Amino acid sequence: MICAILLLALVLLSVILTHRRRSKSEPPLDRGLIPWLGHALEFGKDAAKFINRMKQKHGNIFTVRAAGRYVTVLLDPHSYDAVINDSNSLDFTRYAQVLMERIFNLRLPHHQPADAKALMKRHFLGKNLATLNSTMGRHLQVLLKAETPQNQKDWKEEGLFDFSYSLLFKAGYLTLFGGEQNNNSTDPSSVYEEYKKFDGFLTKMARGTLRAEEKKTALSVRERLLELLAPAGLTEDSGSSPWLHHFRRLLQQEGTDEETQRKAVLMQLWASQGNVGPAAFWLLGYLLTNPEALVAVKREFSQIAQMETSETLPMDRTVNTPVFDSALEETLRLTAAPFITREVVQEKTLHMADGQEYLLRKGDRVCLFPFISPQMDPEIYHEPQKYKYDRFLNEDGSVKKDFYKAGRRLKYYTMPWGAGTNGCVGKQFAINTIRQFVYMVLTNYDVELCDLHAQMPEINASRYGFGMLQPEGDLLIRYKPRNTH
Ligand code: HEM
Repeated sequence: MICAILLLALVLLSVILTHRRRSKSEPPLDRGLIPWLGHALEFGKDAAKFINRMKQKHGNIFTVRAAGRYVTVLLDPHSYDAVINDSNSLDFTRYAQVLMERIFNLRLPHHQPADAKALMKRHFLGKNLATLNSTMGRHLQVLLKAETPQNQKDWKEEGLFDFSYSLLFKAGYLTLFGGEQNNNSTDPSSVYEEYKKFDGFLTKMARGTLRAEEKKTALSVRERLLELLAPAGLTEDSGSSPWLHHFRRLLQQEGTDEETQRKAVLMQLWASQGNVGPAAFWLLGYLLTNPEALVAVKREFSQIAQMETSETLPMDRTVNTPVFDSALEETLRLTAAPFITREVVQEKTLHMADGQEYLLRKGDRVCLFPFISPQMDPEIYHEPQKYKYDRFLNEDGSVKKDFYKAGRRLKYYTMPWGAGTNGCVGKQFAINTIRQFVYMVLTNYDVELCDLHAQMPEINASRYGFGMLQPEGDLLIRYKPRNTH
């Protein structure tokens, strides 16, 4: 009886302490029924479904409570610049730090994110990008050949997700972290195996919802990964990319101890490898389940293959591939679902494109979810659930950039890479990597679905908000080198 009274008192206290009223100038507020927790469970289970439900109820802007925090969700792409361009009132770093701490147990008190970003731009754009692209291409070629020796005559069967993710992860790891070394500690396959386990815990780690048993496993996998990454970038001759070596040096200059450096390296592994493999999977999957799209992309590739010489790697950055680009853009429209989250560090009036104004409270978070709009918005895209490889092509074959909502041309018609100062630094590298990979697979191999009528697998709904989506299950394919009929 006493326990029940105490519980009731606690619930009442939490209701009083966390009660918040909406003022007239603020977005519609939806606290949910459960004190403190609010909508956290529904949000975490399937964010796209939940946000769609809230959109039906409140419109393009609303504030929800989730695990004690108030999050304002904005869904009008015409108004996104008001968030993206205001880094004074809306801060990128604070929420990124919360995630860093939850996922990687990483705190970098003396870190200058601007220096790390400038370093990254130096290495992932311009002349250095070309070097990275060709190193990546070389690793991809070697790894693909190792999967299927040229004299192999029989089909090899594999899940497409595993095939794409493992190859791209290993090639990316060798290009940026592991170098040519071949001792056990830097074996890309063992890093991939551990990373995959870690990846499985990622969303729960970010939300702080791991159960005790899961937490134990997740922490031991993380420890193992930190051991495997210990030598990466440590010395100039560690075999890793110059970027990683400079990144480590920057951390050292900031007074960061070695254990913390490793955690920062793991975070970079996640940022650079976590999305590319899944994106390549969805693209190949959509091509294989849409014969017309596959034919169009293969036709474009075969024209390029004719220009190839033994010295040039396929898919030099300067080659134009509008059909492939459209097929990729369409893939990302359907499967890139990041939250663009900022913390309100000073009160701000948000001016919406339709003339409405809303007050954002200091301490709240603001979240854009471009997956719902523009990407899946039926007002912008006819039959938005369907894969149409040529959606981003004009009739004359040029790139289509004109998309409209409410009669006005959109600046942001897809946003897989974020936007503005905190947009993706690795975008060009990622696109080129995916293009090289898909080119090599489609040009050098016969690839087909094991079940010719197979459909794309469902989406794992718990991953909405965390970049590229991942499938529930896999799509079985078979493949063999092309010259062995
Ligand atoms: C398909 C692959 C990729 C996708 C879909 C993707 C997506 C994104 C998105 C949406 C953001 C913005 C987050 C925000 O505004 O809150 C971002 C940021 C970032 N991405 Fe990527 N990314 C990919 C690949 C890569 C690669 C290969 C690298 C590195 C080589 C990379 C490095 C970064 C970094 C460093 C940032 C943070 C920028 C900052 O601090 O301001 N990404 N990415």
